[in-house]
Amino acid sequence: MSMSMTTPTSEHSTRAPDGLWFGKDMSNSEPIPEEAIERAVVLMRSGRLHRYGEQGSGYPEPSLLEQEYAAYVGTKYCVAVSSCGAAMFIALKAVGVKHGDKVLSSTFTLSPVPGAIAHAGAQAVLVETGADYMTDLADLERKAASSGAKVFLMSHMRGHIADLEAVMKICDRHGITVIEDCAHTMGAKWNGKPTGTWGKVGCYSAQTYKHINSGEGGLLVTDDADVAAQAILMSGSYMMYGQHILKPDAEVFERWKYITPNFSMRMSNLAATLLRPQISQLANRAKRWNHIYATLERELSRADHVIIPPRDPREEFVASSIQFSLDLQPKQIERFIEQCDLRGLHIKWFGKASPIGFTSNYEHWHYLSEAPDLPNSKGVLNQLLDLRTPLSLTDEDCLLIGKIVATASRIAGTAA
Ligand SMILES: Cc1ncc(COP(=O)(O)O)c(C=O)c1O
Repeated sequence: MSMSMTTPTSEHSTRAPDGLWFGKDMSNSEPIPEEAIERAVVLMRSGRLHRYGEQGSGYPEPSLLEQEYAAYVGTKYCVAVSSCGAAMFIALKAVGVKHGDKVLSSTFTLSPVPGAIAHAGAQAVLVETGADYMTDLADLERKAASSGAKVFLMSHMRGHIADLEAVMKICDRHGITVIEDCAHTMGAKWNGKPTGTWGKVGCYSAQTYKHINSGEGGLLVTDDADVAAQAILMSGSYMMYGQHILKPDAEVFERWKYITPNFSMRMSNLAATLLRPQISQLANRAKRWNHIYATLERELSRADHVIIPPRDPREEFVASSIQFSLDLQPKQIERFIEQCDLRGLHIKWFGKASPIGFTSNYEHWHYLSEAPDLPNSKGVLNQLLDLRTPLSLTDEDCLLIGKIVATASRIAGTAA
């Protein structure tokens, strides 16, 4: 019998008396396509795992992936790197962020985002998040005017995409460069235009729990030749940038090659080999994820105390998870989570006092230069629940999750 990591046997002795039991492993992922596995085996037999150096004939796999991904999102350049965190760090450096600079960023995000800002030696100035889980545009306007920041590292956290026309208007008015964290929005668009192409740089993740998976991996896209040349140099191309297919003209590299450090954040040939056949699967995965989202949204919104903010029709999201607010007190939310756990459904909470797994919040990032005062975001995060939605979920699973959430929220609502 196989034992799932999220359903230890001890839970079976403490099941709820109503018999409701989910118990599926929500951390599972889609298998790597057979075509990718076959190509990876050939690559491993060749031993040529590093993307630069003697490649034999043709271009290395990351160069081909860059060409294919840039065509997919419609940008001039793409640089394959070791993670989305690396892409964000490189993007910050390439747009000119210096030690001690202020950088605007989203409050509702995950730790690699403030981490990338800290890595660049800069100070994050967090912008409030509204009840719709989006950047609070009034707070963005205020902080754009008053903080002195020249860059906004904006996170489309959990696939929620704010009005990007409005964001760009505010940032353009204040001379602020936008970098988009698209770790959760690969394949998504705002008003017909892909996320990652609104600002100057878009950063994507290929970590296991994202839309495409090579364990670790990142992609940086831009139309800006100076950003692209710096990104190629910073990622660690050892002056072999000629092996990129999408590369700025030689004179652009001449401007940067002696003054740009090598941060060794390349993507390997192996990661790119695993990723290339997954690009063509994105549209189908998006359809399946959004079907799961629509089913869960319908079921969960029937439960007492559950609020799921309506989504703007211009937001063409790709939902690899679902978030909802519970209009309850913290103790009651703890009860809700316990009641879900008892039924084999493990839900994450952004309001937790201590960070657990992937779910932390700004109050846990003590390296921020000043403790931010973010009353609106605090209120939102304190009631915000989070559920990953692997593509293996069936309609029946979604109905059962709905039943468990309804039961747990009813019980939690009556708790003192
Ligand atoms: C919102 C968000 N941004 C960025 C990242 C960083 O991605 P990576 O793990 O590829 O560095 C993550 C990772 O989970 C994330 O959740």
